[in-house]
Amino acid sequence: MANEEVNTGRRRFLTATTAVVGAVGAGFAAVPFIKSWSPSARARFAGAPVTQDISALTEGQQLVINWRGQPIFIAKRSKAMLDVLATMDALVADPKSTASDQPSYAQNETRSIKKDILVLVGVCTHLGCAPEFKPEVKPEPFDPDWKGGYFCPCHKSRYDLAGRVFKAQPAPLNLPVPPYYFENDNTLVIGVDPKGAA
Ligand code: FES
Repeated sequence: MANEEVNTGRRRFLTATTAVVGAVGAGFAAVPFIKSWSPSARARFAGAPVTQDISALTEGQQLVINWRGQPIFIAKRSKAMLDVLATMDALVADPKSTASDQPSYAQNETRSIKKDILVLVGVCTHLGCAPEFKPEVKPEPFDPDWKGGYFCPCHKSRYDLAGRVFKAQPAPLNLPVPPYYFENDNTLVIGVDPKGAA
């Protein structure tokens, strides 16, 4: 998968390939050139599912890939991270994600199908910046009591390690969860619900 990064949080956008098609010779109308995307790039931009190998992802790491022109965060949480997450309900604005956007199979304590693998649309629900992945429990300039999560540098919204927004932040809702399923243990498909799921 070409459009991936580990742990940088930066976005990388699709690179369109250019095909040049020409018609030459008597009797043909000249076609100077036609630019087109490769089939895979075109399909992605139109919203086709994206398959991602996550076998190299280790605990505390995050991959950022593109789906429908949006960054998708895929993070692997450790048991310790999940234990902390279970203590955060009183601090977040929508602990059960009742007002937030996720498929029903991700409306649970970890906001995920598998407890350790988190999949989010990496777009801040305030004004659309890309939140930064800050997985470590350590004092941060924006929060001396930081327990790990996401920090949006634009207006300082904070989210926990399930993408749940803290109370009293500029961002009103949790980070959305896109449709996804596991093709096998190490392969995620973004953009399609699991079989049988609504
Ligand atoms: S865009 Fe994220 S806090 Fe404003």
